[in-house]
Amino acid sequence: MTQTITVIRGDGIGPEIMDATLHVLDTMDVGLQYEFADAGLVALEKHGELLPQATMDSIRKNRIALKSPLTTPVGEGFSSINVELRKRFDLYANVRPAKSFPNTKSRFPTGVDLITVRENTEGAYIGEGQTVSEDGEVAMLTQKVTRRGSERIVRYAFDLARKTGRKKVTVVHKANILKSTSGLFLKTARAVATEYPDIECNEMIVDNTCMQLVMRPEQFDIIVTTNLFGDIISDLCAGLVGGLGLAPGANIGTDAAIFEAVHGTAPDIAGQGKANPCALLLGAAQMLDHLGQPEKASRLRAAIIATLEAKDSLTPDLGGSGNTMSFAKAIAGRI
Ligand code: NAI
Repeated sequence: MTQTITVIRGDGIGPEIMDATLHVLDTMDVGLQYEFADAGLVALEKHGELLPQATMDSIRKNRIALKSPLTTPVGEGFSSINVELRKRFDLYANVRPAKSFPNTKSRFPTGVDLITVRENTEGAYIGEGQTVSEDGEVAMLTQKVTRRGSERIVRYAFDLARKTGRKKVTVVHKANILKSTSGLFLKTARAVATEYPDIECNEMIVDNTCMQLVMRPEQFDIIVTTNLFGDIISDLCAGLVGGLGLAPGANIGTDAAIFEAVHGTAPDIAGQGKANPCALLLGAAQMLDHLGQPEKASRLRAAIIATLEAKDSLTPDLGGSGNTMSFAKAIAGRI
């Protein structure tokens, strides 16, 4: 069966890593057809809008998008196109795996295999109700956490544990201080956890979590947390295992899902063929899992690992002298 996906090539290094990723997918017999759509700076230049209606319609129709990083120009409407996409499609679950890979100059070349499940639609991160007093002395924002939002993200984390054979969910919070917002999240998480007696559940305060992640990351399996904590923790986790060039992310809702690399458009290396395509490739692997093709997703991940192990055509960020497409071809050759 053929599945059409929306493909957003994006800005900066976006087109380079997308071409590399599609090259690998094309060697895999995954039954995908691509519908290309624009967003970001390239869309502003071509269509006069950062997020054209045609792109929204394409994602709504196909329900699956593979997206390269986008530039949100300062002072052009949205604070972030990515946040806007999450809001418009109610992509409530941000799922970011962090796994040790060989030959990545990382602090933990082995032992880390965890997933951060971050609530993606509420909390301080979305910046609701931001004001600054006239004299510029006082700044405020509203932080809203709901039982519904907490329940669905915690449920997502436990369901993911069951689906992927993982054993433990750690609920990360700051309920000792933020008794209302973090308190509601924790209380809701405890209630949901009782429905999953087969999955171990523990609780950890966010500051301690950061220290534990740096010292003993192997103790974590799935972390579930609110939006802002998840934003910070997932980057910390990417740093444990070799940086942004290897960090994928999925934004998942009931009606649509968008798969991407966590990193940005890397303007400093754009157009030079230096970009590491692995983060977007790993995002594509998450997409294959989501599309019910886990064996293909595993093959893709295994080919990436084998290419890293062989140090074949690695990009400069990994200490190699290959380029984006030669690296992708080396991966494709191992599938
Ligand atoms: P960045 O992630 O683009 O770059 C940070 C550093 O990491 C740079 O030195 C860059 O060269 C390097 N890097 C990033 N991805 C790499 C890759 N695949 N291979 C090798 N090196 C890589 O972050 P920065 O500089 O803060 O943001 C640049 C632009 O990207 C901004 O306009 C920002 O708004 C946008 N951005 C977009 C995101 C998205 O669309 N998902 C996420 C983050 C930032």
